[in-house]
Amino acid sequence: MIHGLVQLAYLAATALFIFSLHWMNDPKTARYGVISGVIAMALAIAATWSQPQVVHHLWIVVALAAGILVGVPLSRVPLTAVPQRTAISHAFGGLAAGLVGTAKYYLWVGEGTEQLTAFRMGAIVLEIILGYLTFTGSLMAAGKLQGVSWIPQRPVTYPLQNLVNIGLLGAAVAMGVYLVTQPAGPLAGTFFPIIIGLALLFGVLLIIPIGGADMPTVISILNSYAGLSAVAMGFVLDNKLLIIAGALDGSSGLILSIIMCRAMNRSFTNVLFGAFGQVQTVQAGGDDRVYKPETIQGAAQVLEQANLVVIIPGYGMAVAQAQHRVHELYEQLTRRGVMVKFAIHPVAGRMPGHMNVLLAEADVPYGDLVEMDEINPDMPQCDVALVIGANDVVNPAARSMRGSPIYGMPIIEADKAKTVFAIKRSKNPGFAGIDNDLYFQDNTFMLFGDAKVVVGELVKQFQGSGSH
Ligand code: TAP
Repeated sequence: MIHGLVQLAYLAATALFIFSLHWMNDPKTARYGVISGVIAMALAIAATWSQPQVVHHLWIVVALAAGILVGVPLSRVPLTAVPQRTAISHAFGGLAAGLVGTAKYYLWVGEGTEQLTAFRMGAIVLEIILGYLTFTGSLMAAGKLQGVSWIPQRPVTYPLQNLVNIGLLGAAVAMGVYLVTQPAGPLAGTFFPIIIGLALLFGVLLIIPIGGADMPTVISILNSYAGLSAVAMGFVLDNKLLIIAGALDGSSGLILSIIMCRAMNRSFTNVLFGAFGQVQTVQAGGDDRVYKPETIQGAAQVLEQANLVVIIPGYGMAVAQAQHRVHELYEQLTRRGVMVKFAIHPVAGRMPGHMNVLLAEADVPYGDLVEMDEINPDMPQCDVALVIGANDVVNPAARSMRGSPIYGMPIIEADKAKTVFAIKRSKNPGFAGIDNDLYFQDNTFMLFGDAKVVVGELVKQFQGSGSH
């Protein structure tokens, strides 16, 4: 009876996980996605807990308390830190899978090695290799993104690096094959902890040659590794819900990394082995060129006269938390009959959907957020492109400058607008570390300052003045 109910609860949780991902597709239903994910997880825990073979209820209470203790502060990080927060979640997922695999192995060894069938041993080996490498790899990735002082941000490379990495992984897999074929073999007890050590080391070595700029993509790839280790854990524990949830996790991570790679015109192998970020000193032009600053009053006048204004938000808008001011500016302009659209680049900011989330939070109507491919044909008709804290995603070097680290990345063609206003604090480059010719164009004018302050001042210009 209990078994049937548990299986039913698992089935319901599986359906809710699938709906959760589906609802995440659209901002209108995203909240349902979150709620159904939470219900699915609660159902899964309750169903597992209710099983008679659970003998130690206190340990489950301790695990729940520990989860809440870590989870609540993790949920409070600012949006700009979400990539590293996500990496930490994957690290926990990988560690959990690794520990479960280790515990199961020693448990079955204790019960007599006939428990260790080739299938179970294969699943355990896969689980511990993927789990432990995800653990250290994700911690390294989170550290790099957070700018932890003792983890170098730049790619660390050395001769024959890929060979060393592949050799390490190969050694772990070879020992794993030994364990699968001879679980009771004389070397089995020695090989098992060595595989764990190699997987932990491989996670670190996999990440050090990758630059900070590629870290969000790598985190997504680690997401799929964490999912795959959960699938293996599902086979070890004979738990169908884990297999399905892990597969969903693994495939969504993979799909996300493919989307990010496409948006940056990079291949998977280039991200993993390309040591991107080393070339960050490449200059798009000379340093001697001058920026043309514009006053707030001047910019406000031009904006007011425009028919079409395209706002291009980037990482700087997120850091400055300027989205509410941006919404006020949107309101002021639309009230004056100006058509305002937001051009959304798929990798603007530091995580997929970063701009969409911020603008939705500020109640900007979703219909006015236009994807890059859709807005670009309209850019030549655009009177003002207002670039707010975006840099790499509007850098024309991506189109024209072979050898630039962002060459080939699709961009929002702000440079084709009649007038460009760019808001940033300084002459510093963006994430890729390269100069941007857009700022030196004849029709580009700089509004230097913090995005929240500058947009706030622009809004003030309109407040109190009538419509035209
Ligand atoms: P970036 O190229 O990083 O440029 C951000 C700009 O914002 C900088 O030029 C900076 O200039 C300015 N800024 C920073 N703080 C500001 C503030 N408080 N007020 C005003 N301006 C401020 O951003 P982007 O154009 O959004 O491009 C994103 C980059 O991240 C791309 O290189 C992309 O490939 C990379 N990336 C993104 C993702 C995802 S999924 N989003 C994944 C991997 C990589 P100042 O310092 O002068 O102010």
